[in-house]
Amino acid sequence: MRRADRWTDYELLDAGGGEKLERWGSVVLRRPDPQAIWPAGDDPAAARAWSTPHATYHRSETGGGSWERHRDLPASWTVSYPLPQGDLAFRIEPSGFKHTGLFPEQAVNWESCAARIAEANAAGRPSRILNLFAYTGGATAACAKAGATEVVHVDASKGMNQRAKENLALSGCVDRPVRLLADDAGKFVEREIRRGRRYDGIIMDPPSYGRGPSGELWKLEDALYALVAQCAHLLSDTPSFFLINSYTTGLSPSVIAAILGLAVGTGRGGHAEADEIGLPASLRPIVLPCGASGWWTP
Ligand SMILES: C[S@@+](CC[C@H](N)C(=O)[O-])C[C@H]1O[C@@H](n2cnc3c(N)ncnc32)[C@H](O)[C@@H]1O
Repeated sequence: MRRADRWTDYELLDAGGGEKLERWGSVVLRRPDPQAIWPAGDDPAAARAWSTPHATYHRSETGGGSWERHRDLPASWTVSYPLPQGDLAFRIEPSGFKHTGLFPEQAVNWESCAARIAEANAAGRPSRILNLFAYTGGATAACAKAGATEVVHVDASKGMNQRAKENLALSGCVDRPVRLLADDAGKFVEREIRRGRRYDGIIMDPPSYGRGPSGELWKLEDALYALVAQCAHLLSDTPSFFLINSYTTGLSPSVIAAILGLAVGTGRGGHAEADEIGLPASLRPIVLPCGASGWWTP
């Protein structure tokens, strides 16, 4: 497993009892996590931490849920991440869907993308990056910070793109060559193939289910292979990487590696590998699994 263990502004304190307890800057949040099916820590330090968060997210029986605020909870605040190429910063805002606007385990992928871009730059190769299902722009900011030639960020949600724009500004990337597009990932890829565009790195982090801006249905098991195969047509003659991340329970790293090997590696060679990614807890020796990431590299 690859662990996101270089954070200072974020800390997974503990996980258990179907929940996780996290520190985001100086704010502690308690929210559901379906993977944490072991009991929560009950030694004095863990029991104290679990009983004193700033807010707890409760699921509702009728779907969705809401935050119960226990003490001063800011509407939003900023956390930063020490990428070797310079600090990234993100706005954190607890949402009605238990999310905070950032997936902290993705830091392992931000570092790998940034390292591959820095390598391409040092070798005098271009690094034009396509980021699909790009959410609030964690990977977009990492690639921009690492000096990508261009980053094209595609998400169906205009609201997410607005958050990504803020995060790019907080990360000191306003003058970097980034395009933020509100579009359906599949339709955008088809149009880019017709336009003859090429990318040196492709990143995708598709949800299990999703909707494009015009209601286009995305179901990962049905659509992932075809989208990856389409994207392979967009790779340049000197590609650096293809990254797939997934939170979908049941999609094993081996499935991601097989898809990359077949859809990207066929006729191109290279190497496909995938692994779980996770967050180590600080109060107990456990690591919370957070899905899987697969890499194709030439
Ligand atoms: C799991 S999140 C991605 C997390 C992100 N990569 C990160 O690490 O911060 C999925 C994103 O996919 C977007 N999305 C869902 N269906 C889409 C579609 N058909 N086309 C483009 N984006 C879509 C959602 O708006 C959401 O922002």
